[in-house]
Amino acid sequence: MQSITITRPDDWHLHLRDADHLQAVVNDTAQQFARAIVMPNLTPPVAHCDQALSYRERIIAALDPTRSFEPLMTLYLTDQTTSEDIREASESPFIHACKLYPAGATTNSAAGVTHINKIYTVLEAMQKHDFPLLVHGEATGDDIDIFDREKVFIDHTLSKIRHDFPELRIVFEHITTADAIDYVLSQDHHLGGTITAHHLLINRNAMFKGGMNPHHYCLPIAKRETHRQALLKAATTQAPRFFAGTDSAPHARGAKESACGCAGIYTAHAAIELYAEAFEQTGNWSQFEQFMSLSGPAFYQLPVNAEQVTIRKLDWTVPDSVPFGDETLIPFKAGQTISWKLDL
Ligand code: NCD
Ligand code: ZN
Repeated sequence: MQSITITRPDDWHLHLRDADHLQAVVNDTAQQFARAIVMPNLTPPVAHCDQALSYRERIIAALDPTRSFEPLMTLYLTDQTTSEDIREASESPFIHACKLYPAGATTNSAAGVTHINKIYTVLEAMQKHDFPLLVHGEATGDDIDIFDREKVFIDHTLSKIRHDFPELRIVFEHITTADAIDYVLSQDHHLGGTITAHHLLINRNAMFKGGMNPHHYCLPIAKRETHRQALLKAATTQAPRFFAGTDSAPHARGAKESACGCAGIYTAHAAIELYAEAFEQTGNWSQFEQFMSLSGPAFYQLPVNAEQVTIRKLDWTVPDSVPFGDETLIPFKAGQTISWKLDL
């Protein structure tokens, strides 16, 4: 395979940050994707419709004017979210989902939901308005091993939400385990899953190879190789149920290389190419377009993009670092070769 042309994809899970950090990263995504589901975990969180709409304006203002890119906004669920917030969001053409962060699960999740019971009337309203729920599917609690958090979340929380709200559309985001894949496949079309490029490309060894590497630390944390193989198989052979969501999550170099380093991997500079490298490992491209460009719009009930993109087999070297406001950012595969390049 020397070149591949597909419908322009969308990124179904993205962190764009704000202010000069937003300015530094948004055009990496805009040159690859037509749309992206924008995560609401700013400080303070994007918890109300007016906040989501003004964040959207800031994103659009930061775009290179030659790009047409549509940010699809989300609301951050808290213990205080109301059914009225959901009704208002569901009526906005710009807000497409609500995000559930279990409190304490990840970066900027302190304002998240402390117990699922606190949002039961909100989930009921979401089901009624057919408004998608996006879940960071990890159980919290110091007694739970970090590598087991996804499975415990399925057993204790997600299966209960699915049982009590069978018609609620849910995206199980950035899944990392064979357990999550099996669970999605055991359920009907109301449940979909996103898979990141980095979870298709690295296993947990990457964090420790040759010494501690904080640039491979993200949440959910990368798991063992058997799980990576299961993710590759799901992306390449079960694409109607799984779709691309990069979870590109930029943090300044100093915040990563620190005694309490932040979780998050930046992949927006080469997202489509990184997915291509993953698919190439299996030799099976038959569902590449389905996974990248078709399953997401189907789940979100949005039109498929009209434009196409082409990637070519071509080696290039990822920069060692890129500017990030007053600081720098270390992109995934910094200083290494990527063997695909998107035509710009
Ligand atoms: C994300 C971030 O930095 O905002 N970090 C990450 O490791 N993925 C938050 C998240 O999606 O968990
Ligand atoms: Zn994320």
